[in-house]
Amino acid sequence: AALDAFVAGLPKAELHLHIEGSLEPELMFALAQRNHIALPFADVEAVRAAYDFSNLQDFLDIYYQGANVLQTEEDFYDLAMAYFRRAAADNVRHAEIFFDPQTHTDRGIPYSVVIDGLWRAAQDAQALNLSVSLIHSFLRHLSEDAAFDSLAMAEPYLDRLVGVGLDSSEVGHPPSKFAGVFAKARDMGLMLCCHAGEEGPPEYVYEALDILEIDRIDHGNRSLEDPLLVARIIDEGLTLTVCPLSNHKLCVVPDLDMHPIPAMLKQGLKATINSDDPAYFGGYVNDNFLALTRRGLISKKDCVTLALNSVDGAFLDPDRRDALR
Ligand code: ADE
Ligand code: ZN
Repeated sequence: AALDAFVAGLPKAELHLHIEGSLEPELMFALAQRNHIALPFADVEAVRAAYDFSNLQDFLDIYYQGANVLQTEEDFYDLAMAYFRRAAADNVRHAEIFFDPQTHTDRGIPYSVVIDGLWRAAQDAQALNLSVSLIHSFLRHLSEDAAFDSLAMAEPYLDRLVGVGLDSSEVGHPPSKFAGVFAKARDMGLMLCCHAGEEGPPEYVYEALDILEIDRIDHGNRSLEDPLLVARIIDEGLTLTVCPLSNHKLCVVPDLDMHPIPAMLKQGLKATINSDDPAYFGGYVNDNFLALTRRGLISKKDCVTLALNSVDGAFLDPDRRDALR
């Protein structure tokens, strides 16, 4: 309990959170009812029982299905506000959240509906002592042309976005597939993030650095297989947004006792702890810290380092950063 209070007391930033992955089964049912959508589950317990994944794709199939209940601006507002309240309760003071526009626009929901709902919630989060930035994420199992179309939809809303990301099925969809659209996003003034080395090989992390020239690495676990790559990431000062409970639920690590966060810190990588898709993986950011502290994998001092890394790795202006340190 003393450990819980210590972790809870640390001000922190959450840098790797998919807002669609914060859809709790209770809200899924409430939105399904509000929008007259039939769910293939009898009740909330049946939904939770289905969250048993053997890899990333298993999870993605059920995650994209869950997102179908999101229809109106109010739905996106309610989804985001529920996460912001939960994050604020964990003493998250700044959140940079991914959203997957193509998951919604491809089923006929206008980009404006998605971003207006998320943006209004982001404004209201200020009353929770929480600042929020939005990251438009491309689905890598779709084509680069589709990503260009999605970026074009974002153009009227550039002032509401801090960056772009790349998520969904990693293996078979290397970063190089998106070289052109990432170059364009950089020219538009956006920061660049990329999921790399979650299931994909170290080569994909190299591509994210060399070809996409990213500003932050999401996951990056498999970088540890290549000492030269680790040295390069440290040299470039890049932050890794690591997600322990996600890694366990998606079998990226066989056991939480073998989680690479301690090795990352030991080698001098700027690792951070994040929740990824908390409604699907069984815990928010403090739960992710506690999963490692309770196993004796990281110390209180490590927790302080990880929390400071999250503030340092955020895409914040210097004044806001100083206020959070
Ligand atoms: N979309 C949501 N969560 C993801 C993850 N952990 N990896 C890839 N794509 C995702
Ligand atoms: Zn992710």
